[in-house]
Amino acid sequence: MLRHVLLTASRSERAERLVSSSPLTRGVVSRYVADDVGAVVHDLSDQGLLVTVDHLGEDVTDRTQAEHEVRAYLTLLERLPVGADVSVKLTALGLRLSEQLALDNAASVCEAAAAKGLTVTLDAEEHDTIEAQHSIHSTLRKEHPDVGVVVQSYLRDAQERCARVDSARVRLCKGAYVAPEALAFTSPRDIDRSYVRCLRTLMAGTGYPMVATHDPRLIEIAAALAILHERDTTGFEYQMLYGVRPAEQLRLAGIGSQVRVYVPYGDDWYAYLMRRLAERPANLAFFARSLLSK
Ligand code: FDA
Repeated sequence: MLRHVLLTASRSERAERLVSSSPLTRGVVSRYVADDVGAVVHDLSDQGLLVTVDHLGEDVTDRTQAEHEVRAYLTLLERLPVGADVSVKLTALGLRLSEQLALDNAASVCEAAAAKGLTVTLDAEEHDTIEAQHSIHSTLRKEHPDVGVVVQSYLRDAQERCARVDSARVRLCKGAYVAPEALAFTSPRDIDRSYVRCLRTLMAGTGYPMVATHDPRLIEIAAALAILHERDTTGFEYQMLYGVRPAEQLRLAGIGSQVRVYVPYGDDWYAYLMRRLAERPANLAFFARSLLSK
C-alpha cells in the first residue's frame, strides 16, 4: 500500500515540487545520489568496486531534452575509468516520442562507449516500455555484442525473457515500478521465486549474469548456482545501488567477487529517490523524521 502511494507520488509533479522545495531533502538525496560523480567513482574504484553510472532523467518529452541526455552521457564517458559501464534509461533518450529516436540515441551512446572500451546497459522501466527495450537491445547487439539489458523478475514473463537473452549481459533485478497484476507478480514471495527461476536460466546460459539485488538469500543462491554452473568469479557479477548495503558490497569484493555499484547523479533525482523510499519503509520513516525534526 505505502509502496504504491510512493510509486504513484514518483509520477506526480505536485509531490515533486513539495519534496524538492524542502532544503532538508538534500541529506536524504545525497545518501542515494552522487553529489560529485567523479569523486564517488574514484572512491569506489579505489575500494575495488566496479561502477555503472546513470545520468538521472526519464520520460523526456521533447527531442531537445533527449539530445541533452545524449550529450550528458558522451561527456560522462570521457571521465570514466576502464571497466566502467553506463546505465541508460530509454525514456530519457526519447522512447516516449519514438522508438527509432531512442534507438538512434542509444546507438550514439554505445558507439562512444565502445570507442573508450566501456559498456552500456539498458535499464528496465515501466511495463509498457519493455517490448521496445528488448527490441532496441536486440538491434544494438548486432553492432555492440556487449550491450547489456535489464530483466525485472516481478514480470510474469521474466524467465522467458531471460531464456531469449541468455547469451547476453543481463542484469536481473526484482523491479521498481507499479505494473498491472495481469502482467506482474505482486507478492514478495512470488517475485523472489521468479528471481530464482531467472537466475537458474541465466547461470545455465552462455551470457554474463549481473545479479542486482541486496537480498542476502538471493545473493547466496546466486553464489551456489554459479558454482553449480562452473562459473568462476569472472563469469558473473553482483550489482548494488550506491548507498545501499555498502558493507556488503565490500564484503563480497573482499572474498574475490566482482561487485558493481550503480551510481546515479544529476539534478533529476526525484523519481529515483521515491523508488528507493518505496523499497524500504524504514527509509521513509528516516526521511519523515528528518523533515519534522528541523
Ligand atoms: P529487497 O527490496 O527485498 O531488499 C532486500 C534488502 O536490501 C532489504 O531488506 C534492505 O536491507 C536492503 N534494501 C533494499 N532496498 C533498499 C533501499 N532502497 N534502501 C536501503 N536498504 C535497501 N529496477 C528496475 O525496475 N529497473 C532497473 O533497471 C533497475 N536497475 C537496478 C540496478 C541495480 C544495480 C540494483 C541493485 C537495482 C536495480 N533496480 C532496478 C531496483 C530493483 O528492481 C529493486 O527495486 C531494488 O534493488 C530492491 O530490491 P532488492 O532486490 O534489493 O530486494
